[in-house]
Amino acid sequence: MKTYYVTTPIYYLNGDPHIGHTYTTVAADVMARYKKARGYDVKFLTGSDEHGQKVEQAAMAAGVSPQAFVDGLAAMFKDIWKLMDCDYDYYQRTTNPDHCATIGKIFKKLYDQGDIYKGSYEGLYCTPCEAFFTKRQLQNNNCPDCGRPVENISEEAYFFRMSKYQDALTAHYESNPEFLMPLSRRNEMFNNFIKPGLDDLCVSRTSFSWGVPVDFDPGHVIYVWIDALPNYISALGYLSDDDSDYRRYWPADLHLMAKEIVRFHAVIWPCILMALGEPLPKRVFAHGWLQYEGQKMGKSLGNAICPKALVAEYGVDAIRYFLMREFTFGPDGNFTQNALITRYNADLANDLGNLLSRTVGMVDKYFGGKLPASNHSPRSHGRAANTVFVCDQPTPLDNELIEMATSMITKMEERMEKLAFSEALNEIWNVVRRANKYIDETAPWVLAKDEAKQGELANVLYNLAETLRILAIAIAPVMPNTPPIIRDQLSICDPALREWESSKTFGLLPREFAIQKGNAAFPRKDKK
Ligand code: ME8
Ligand code: MG
Repeated sequence: MKTYYVTTPIYYLNGDPHIGHTYTTVAADVMARYKKARGYDVKFLTGSDEHGQKVEQAAMAAGVSPQAFVDGLAAMFKDIWKLMDCDYDYYQRTTNPDHCATIGKIFKKLYDQGDIYKGSYEGLYCTPCEAFFTKRQLQNNNCPDCGRPVENISEEAYFFRMSKYQDALTAHYESNPEFLMPLSRRNEMFNNFIKPGLDDLCVSRTSFSWGVPVDFDPGHVIYVWIDALPNYISALGYLSDDDSDYRRYWPADLHLMAKEIVRFHAVIWPCILMALGEPLPKRVFAHGWLQYEGQKMGKSLGNAICPKALVAEYGVDAIRYFLMREFTFGPDGNFTQNALITRYNADLANDLGNLLSRTVGMVDKYFGGKLPASNHSPRSHGRAANTVFVCDQPTPLDNELIEMATSMITKMEERMEKLAFSEALNEIWNVVRRANKYIDETAPWVLAKDEAKQGELANVLYNLAETLRILAIAIAPVMPNTPPIIRDQLSICDPALREWESSKTFGLLPREFAIQKGNAAFPRKDKK
């Protein structure tokens, strides 16, 4: 069985999580569900980044131990992933003893082979950002990232000999043009960070103790990136007694993150892996930042960007749909309430919601809730009565719908493989809109009045229901809660009719089916 391993960053303590934080994890979940649907053996990893001075200080301020503090953090993130229906396979925590053991072994191995050495570090340090800067990088003498004051720090430290991997990393970039995506970020990394030369990297600290200790040099703590990045392999049991998952799933198919940490994933992490003699991830994809109403997402925006509030208002499927449909995956995006409500009403309430309610409503109204298996009324296409089903002689209109519905998934697959989520959804919505137009063009309400056209009417309703069956399969990775609503209303119980591949064949839905009227899947929202 083919495997697929997808990861998100491990999240920090950053104040209350906002909808921007969920972007990467929703995208990862969509890819995981999509690959699972296609029969892959999928591993989807997320987790939390729980060490460092910032955590130590926050715990102290809260009057709890660092461990109690990060336990709360992990629980909070798990709640968010549950809320967002992000169905990860493993949640890694950097305080997990298995992770700490692997990190200790990695550090020791790199030290023993001469890739980590002891030196001393001097620099301007920003504690909240956990980053060193040169004088030139400062803005108004403050941290260029957060604007807060920096401190001059000098300490004995261990260094990772990253400079040694310059040529190998260059060669990797040159022979794997899709290693880092999108292309604009690949070029930026390659030209601005790799080509000018790699500096050795400071990988230990003595100024705090909340981290994995360097066991052969007490007082030193393994510093952030050597602790955080290998979570992707510690989660698979790398260097542990049971590394079967590592052998099964590594190299990762996809590391997902936003642009601010692409350098760590696309420069530092590959060098660490090369030093360990391990293969590099197949792809690193760094998407942009989501703003909210043109502003950086953060505390000051309050409840408006709280995932819980958004889900309470619109439902989780609508929020996932919006995140994946509204923004091109790659550049920055601007999340606005207006765009959300507009898309909700247009794409979900009008297009998809109406397609379902019209189809179900017409089966109810014209056939008493049960679409007949065969046509007992006088034929409209000149065939003998009672012998053939209505679909035997599709009209050009039928054919157009059938052709679009059955070719949709293949087009969607092409988009999904490129992480072009918005385009993938657009392929689906082309069919949704085509099906609504098909209702207008076939005018079932006119057919209903003509005793001689009952077969044609049943045919139209069958084609709509079968299109909805196919749509339910296609939307499932993005909107996991909506397909069951569609299937319940059309009484689709056979699991074979939910299979990904079954969406490429039209006519698998039993000819005879009963509908179950339900509530509107996406009731319209008023613009406030
Ligand atoms: O950087 N728009 O963790 P972090 C889009 N612990 N994505 C956003 C976002 C926004 N406005 N805000 C946050 C760290 N994100 C390290 C990672 S990995 C080995 C260590 C998402 O909690 C996006 O995925 O600061 C970004 O990369 C991540 O949150 C950073 O999360
Ligand atoms: Mg960050």
